[in-house]
Amino acid sequence: MASNIDARVEELISKMSLEEKVGQMNQLSGPNEAYKDLIRQGKLGSLLNVVGADKCNEFQRVAVQESRLGIPLLFGFDVIHGYRTIFPIPLGLASSWDPDLVRKAAGIAAAEARADGINWTFAPMVDIARDPRWGRIAEGAGEDPYLGSVIAKAAVEGFQGEDISDPRRVAACAKHYVGYGAAEGGRDYNTTDMSERTLREIYLPPFKAAVEAGVATIMSAFNDLCGIPASANPLTIREILKGEWGFRGFVVSDWNAIGELINHGLARERRDAAREAVLAGVDMDMCSNCYIDELCDLVRSGAVREEVVDEAVRRILRVKFMLGLFENPYVDPDRARSIILCEEHRENARDIARRSMVLLKNQDGLLPLRKDLRAIAVIGPFADNRADLLGCWSGLGRAEDVVTVLEGIREKISPSTDLLFSDGSNIEEAVTVARKAEVVVLAVGEPAYRSGEGGSVSTIDLPEGQEDLIKAVYGAGRPVVAVLFNGRPLSITWMAERIPAILEAWHPGIQGGNAVADILFGDYNPSGKLPVSFPRTVGQIPIYYNHKNTGRPPEETNRFTSKYIDIPSTPLFPFGYGLSYTRFEYRDLRINPARTPINGKVTVSVEVANVGEREGEEVVQLYIRDVTASITRPVKELKDFKKIHLMPGERKTVEFEIPAERLSFYGRDMKPVVEPGLFKLWVGPNSMEGLEGDFEIV
Ligand code: NOJ
Repeated sequence: MASNIDARVEELISKMSLEEKVGQMNQLSGPNEAYKDLIRQGKLGSLLNVVGADKCNEFQRVAVQESRLGIPLLFGFDVIHGYRTIFPIPLGLASSWDPDLVRKAAGIAAAEARADGINWTFAPMVDIARDPRWGRIAEGAGEDPYLGSVIAKAAVEGFQGEDISDPRRVAACAKHYVGYGAAEGGRDYNTTDMSERTLREIYLPPFKAAVEAGVATIMSAFNDLCGIPASANPLTIREILKGEWGFRGFVVSDWNAIGELINHGLARERRDAAREAVLAGVDMDMCSNCYIDELCDLVRSGAVREEVVDEAVRRILRVKFMLGLFENPYVDPDRARSIILCEEHRENARDIARRSMVLLKNQDGLLPLRKDLRAIAVIGPFADNRADLLGCWSGLGRAEDVVTVLEGIREKISPSTDLLFSDGSNIEEAVTVARKAEVVVLAVGEPAYRSGEGGSVSTIDLPEGQEDLIKAVYGAGRPVVAVLFNGRPLSITWMAERIPAILEAWHPGIQGGNAVADILFGDYNPSGKLPVSFPRTVGQIPIYYNHKNTGRPPEETNRFTSKYIDIPSTPLFPFGYGLSYTRFEYRDLRINPARTPINGKVTVSVEVANVGEREGEEVVQLYIRDVTASITRPVKELKDFKKIHLMPGERKTVEFEIPAERLSFYGRDMKPVVEPGLFKLWVGPNSMEGLEGDFEIV
């Protein structure tokens, strides 16, 4: 099949004029009538933001029937966490620590998108993010390269399946290559700078995982990285991605990222920008027109060899063939109507949403609530809110599709329970409503636009006014359950100290209200774990669990250690943290063999028992620390995890096999190395607790 495709690609390329080749490398946005002429002339290879089966078919017809070679178009769209059936934001999906769930969500999104004419999604975003000021932290899997890699792989598999010519699949695009999440100060599009070691150990692994999973495309980022813009970076694109990793798909620039090479100061004019990008290995130009305007001339003048263009076109055509577009360029609009937002997809959205939520606090077992309470008050700006529950980048999601918290709770409670509501805009009224209730559910957080692209903030407190609302409602003296809707970790220290129960719901998508109600009333026992640390305050950023020990690790009583003197050095909630309505006990950690050869593997087992009253799921996490090495190593690194289900009283032995090579890091010569020596190991419920042991690599 693959070699057959290669042969077809070569045959097609041999027929193409230089203009037609460069046309394939050109992508423009929107269903613009004027583009039809470009398509006819073979000057446009892909459109983004053209949606709907009929619209896509209409443009496709021009490409297939009216252009000289009939090469079909790629239709790209940001299908980030759902197409019309909107799931939780990716940070929420990652909180499930469940690759099957991520695969399922991506699979449904792909099926809906493809049916509607979209054959390429700009997802998954696999940028590591250690700074919650950065709004796009919402779109990724958080701070950890291992979890991020597992999720990246699952998302690619979900979008692409085994074969992207399947009418339920789309080509995926791992983005933003690379380092974009390291934006200085958490300010979107800002400059990034890091050692090659940090690049390789922290930021590259999820991309590598996506490539290994067969991702069809990669998007080059906006940022400059160590002085070289990511969309003109021969080291990261040509050497590492296409060379070292053998990536065979194509690289698309982010929106106008080639044009922005002028702002970066790398290119004086668009001609230089086109040359720098194409030489670095960017195969398709999203929306800057630099390629279509400049590339033919650059080739004719000898500044760029035609083989460079051929290579780009080869990669793009290959993806078009793999998608089966030459055989099936059109989609059936009836199919779209029958599957988009269908009952099955909506049911899945509910289950996926509740599995993405994280119980942060549950003092004295306030949760789950009884369904026959006398009166329950639902208060706050997110209580009866539809649009914001969709979160950033919500595709074709519509507010009208969303189940609100109020609706979800109404469905759950007994007919005799009084359901009281206040949107919280009038604090006095909110307090009066709270006083009438037996329990208050307080729905707070940030609006969807506050995270996502361009959604950087200088403080991660709740938006203006909400703390006042929370304090006033708390002051009413009723038990309060806070439900948070947000796209990033927020500093909720005041709440965490006083509000007895807190559920992190993220932006949960169309079934948010039902999913919240399932958890609040115990029809689902929460199992999510944080994929990112929650700082106590913005001043702690960057704070991440896999930090270095330093020469002076923090000691509370010693001023001259690495810490702030005004706050504890720990996060408010650590990476991997999340509670359940039941309790899990960890026992009997075994590590074999205690001395493992450098090419061997370590087998680790632990018994986990459900010692509470409810069935539940636990994410069993395994961390290691390389105690002494030629390069300073993080205090902890996640190396594996398993999500298990246990009935009350049930116990399971969970086993992990860690090949020694998973303990490798980049040595002083920047080559991966496993060094003999002592390793500590923890197996537990989060990055700060667990049973501890050790082993040696010999
Ligand atoms: C810019 C964003 O950075 C990227 O993530 C997105 O895919 C493109 N725009 C296309 O919408």
